Amino acid sequence: MELPKRSHILGAGFELPRTVVTNDELSAVLDTSDEWIHQRSGIRERRYVDDGEGSSALAERAARKAIAAAGLEPGDIDLLICATLSPDVDFPGNSSFIQQRLGLAGILAFDVRNQCSSFLYMLSVADQYVRTGGARHVLVIGSEVHSSGIEYADRSRHVTVLFGDGAGAVVVGASPDGERGLLTINLHCEGAYADKLCLLGPGSLRKPRLALDWTPADIYGWPQMDGRFVFRHAVKRMGECIEEALAVIGASKDDIRMLLPHQANLRINQLVAMGLRIDDERMANNIERYGNTTAATIPILLAETLDAGRIHDNDLVCLAAFGSGFTWAAALLRW
Ligand code: COA
Repeated sequence: MELPKRSHILGAGFELPRTVVTNDELSAVLDTSDEWIHQRSGIRERRYVDDGEGSSALAERAARKAIAAAGLEPGDIDLLICATLSPDVDFPGNSSFIQQRLGLAGILAFDVRNQCSSFLYMLSVADQYVRTGGARHVLVIGSEVHSSGIEYADRSRHVTVLFGDGAGAVVVGASPDGERGLLTINLHCEGAYADKLCLLGPGSLRKPRLALDWTPADIYGWPQMDGRFVFRHAVKRMGECIEEALAVIGASKDDIRMLLPHQANLRINQLVAMGLRIDDERMANNIERYGNTTAATIPILLAETLDAGRIHDNDLVCLAAFGSGFTWAAALLRW
């Protein structure tokens, strides 16, 4: 069997909960305002699931759309990779639940844990499987239900206002012509700053581990973030990583037709774009409507941008992310 020279994204889909939560609605429970949130982050609103809905339910719906967009059936999928920092339960990982929901009993399924960079880490794994003949059609899913894992208290307001729920998925397979598809993907991790954006519990360092035993006052039950520190590193690392990826394929900043950056803060993305001399025409953002959906962000943004007809054949598309870990990554695809 001849192995594929290159992998490509064959279809993308996304799913967002119906309930819109505006900045004004959050301001009713937190000491914050639409003006502060929008000015600092670009966010106007985000989506929250109904009580009782977990991230695997959103993942299933996004996955079905991605499979259909690729012109495939669920039965064509032979590997499922998913990421979330808000799994349905502490263990097992969401891959088991999503596999079951999609009726894909027996296929290989596993979770990746790289927070906001997860999608690009998963894409790199999918690429390896496809190019080495280990899988033909890899379903890659990011899904998050942040709304049940953030603290609605003023000490967490700098975190809580940023996050929303959603899911995005793609199918990765062999490039149809062997030329288009994933050209390079650069992944990084710097553990020295793990404590700058983290959730300490449930974790084996703490006893009792489980949230059931916590009181609402325990800060280790809620995400913690040094916002300014994260902001500075995100701008620097995403810019660097994109330049590094361009150098690998011998392309220049001007060759990028569409930049799809992670959506943590619109101001981060504007600074990254400014450094690359990329104008609004060549960048997509949706943070205003959805906030940060972590592992789901890039596949949601990609699916929306494709649906909007903003990506054309042969465009050089750049995906870039930065997140907790710290982890960061950039990918270049010839569409
Ligand atoms: N509403 C109103 N005021 C708020 C607030 C909120 N939601 N959150 C924080 N503040 C206040 C602070 O208490 C502080 O008040 P003080 O000056 O009286 O002490 C002031 O606003 C400035 O706080 P600071 O944290 O320095 O703001 P900032 O300009 O850095 O913006 C973030 C905060 C979180 C928006 C920004 O740092 C950020 O986006 N960081 C990166 C986040 C990120 O990328 N996270 C995910 C990575 S995947």
